[in-house]
Amino acid sequence: MGPQPELRILITRDEIAAAVSRLVAEVKRDYQGKFPLLLGILKGSFMFMADLIRQLDFPLEVDFVRLSSYGSKKESSGRIKIVQGLYSEVKGRDVLVVEDIVDTGLTVSFFMDYLRKKKPASLKLCALTDKPSRRQVPVAIDYLGFTVPNRFLVGYGLDLNDRFRNLPDICVLEDEG
Ligand code: IMP
Repeated sequence: MGPQPELRILITRDEIAAAVSRLVAEVKRDYQGKFPLLLGILKGSFMFMADLIRQLDFPLEVDFVRLSSYGSKKESSGRIKIVQGLYSEVKGRDVLVVEDIVDTGLTVSFFMDYLRKKKPASLKLCALTDKPSRRQVPVAIDYLGFTVPNRFLVGYGLDLNDRFRNLPDICVLEDEG
């Protein structure tokens, strides 16, 4: 346990819940009756995925992959590898990737390219948050919760060195050290 940094709530749990409900309505409209495969990127997306699928009351599949980026925790190096993957058949499926945050875009863009080669019937991206100010490669986000400022965020699945994922609100780390 390091020192307790200062946290300021940026997006409250109620605002998150409202955004999830809005996204559910959009996803439902597009995927109901299609038996989609929702693919979460670990670890950050687990809470968002759980909230999302609890409201999606039609048949679907859920799977997760774990990707790792070389380099320091707060910076994506762009060299991504799949650490734990993908056991589901992607070919011919309607695949919806579920991500916590799109920052530089390197992680998700790598993963979308990787999936595209496996010939899904369709491939879309649902992201809870988007930090467009840091983008290095273009990323099309089909379903978006929030556009966020260029600050390091924790909570609701988002972490710093694996801490703070359990916070129910999305917070800004004021003391970034
Ligand atoms: P990208 O490749 O730069 O888009 O980074 C995506 C990944 O970096 C996310 O899945 C997060 O794991 C991590 N990340 C980026 N920004 C933040 C943040 O503000 N808080 C926590 N994790 C972040």
